[in-house]
Amino acid sequence: MNIIGISEGFHDAGLTLLQGNKIIFASHSERYSRIKGDKWIHPAMWPKSQRYQPDVVAYYERPFLKNLRRWYAGQKHQKPRIKYDVNFGHHESHAAAGFYTSTFDECNVLVVDAIGEWDTISIWEGKNDKLKKIKSWKYPYSLGLLYSAITARLGLKPNEDEYITMGMAAYGEPRYDLEPLLMENNHRGARVIWKDASEYDLAASVQALYEKKFLELVDMCPHKNLIIMGGCALNCVANSKIKGKNIWIMPSPGDAGSSLGAAALVRKKKLEWRNPYIGYPILNGIHIKSVVDQLEKNRIVGIANGKAEFGPRALGNRSLLADPRWDIKDTVNDIKRRQRFRPFAPAILDEYADDYFEGPMNEYMQFVAKAKHDHKAVTHVDGTARVQIVKEDCGSLLRQILEEWYDRTGCPMLLNTSLNIKGEPIVNTWEQAEEWSRKYNVPVF
Ligand SMILES: [Fe+2]
Repeated sequence: MNIIGISEGFHDAGLTLLQGNKIIFASHSERYSRIKGDKWIHPAMWPKSQRYQPDVVAYYERPFLKNLRRWYAGQKHQKPRIKYDVNFGHHESHAAAGFYTSTFDECNVLVVDAIGEWDTISIWEGKNDKLKKIKSWKYPYSLGLLYSAITARLGLKPNEDEYITMGMAAYGEPRYDLEPLLMENNHRGARVIWKDASEYDLAASVQALYEKKFLELVDMCPHKNLIIMGGCALNCVANSKIKGKNIWIMPSPGDAGSSLGAAALVRKKKLEWRNPYIGYPILNGIHIKSVVDQLEKNRIVGIANGKAEFGPRALGNRSLLADPRWDIKDTVNDIKRRQRFRPFAPAILDEYADDYFEGPMNEYMQFVAKAKHDHKAVTHVDGTARVQIVKEDCGSLLRQILEEWYDRTGCPMLLNTSLNIKGEPIVNTWEQAEEWSRKYNVPVF
């Protein structure tokens, strides 16, 4: 049976194609339309081949409930354009995207986002392929909405730049008590609050409040196995403070990832999850030695090869790689038009990760660990890094690039950042990669 799951109509549209328990394709619409956070499915995402035409199309939320809440919040009525056969709840789709890609038979799923229909936080129990909601919190109480409102207050883009707020938090002190704002309608933004506040301190304050509330929620989950989903699951600093749990976060935990959840709910059976390389394919092949020659010579190289990653992190198939032993942070930030304070992340051969870092880390950059080396280009101001460990069976040629790099230099890691510039979606096709290469004068393989 072919199932298509879609999320669209609000922000971060996504489409997933399942065939039985196999994930054939999943992608974020913005990669195709080149509109950041695009809310509509792009027609090029729909399968062309006859053998992948859907038997069922599933939608990721309940339009009636959503519009009722939007009316209550003073927002416009809105509905999806694509015709669907079946639909599920917004948080249910988030929870399913985590549960049906996980290996856990028994677990809790904690969903934290801005808002779907009414739920803003929910706790689920997953058991024998079934998901049951145990507890939920409703609008206007929302950790995600407050985090986005503070992000907007800092002059950044809500629903997009929350990770910058998280990065800024390391430079400030949590001096403001934002808890009373949690009960307000933060759709209207928190732009006017704390008028003269330091921006770094505001960022630190919202991060501190988020961490406190998030850890309280984790404590309400009795199972040792914990899945975290919803846009807030991208808060790797908070994720790293969880103790004593086995954690799974599907690499696309936001609304684009809910297209996968909605599709999975049609079958209610575990999916075969191999890796996040399930997007648009570039089938050029790659010459590993030439890539590493370039890294040795010019220290920076772009990679656009294989299937694109599902989720906001580039994990080697649409990446800009650089030599982390140099003071290369400003150069890469300038190419990407990013703020200079922003750190970069390292990708490291699995077997050397513990020599270079201490603390939680995984294959999908979902945690932060303390650096035990002094390569500043891949270390944040607080001495941490969002590490990607690269295993033998990771599914990307990044593994071979790192192996060759290590053979030549003795250094098992590379700086890894997404192949894009600030505010633009990550490169999807080879044509876009070539254009990027010409524009920013960095070779792409
Ligand atoms: Fe959501």
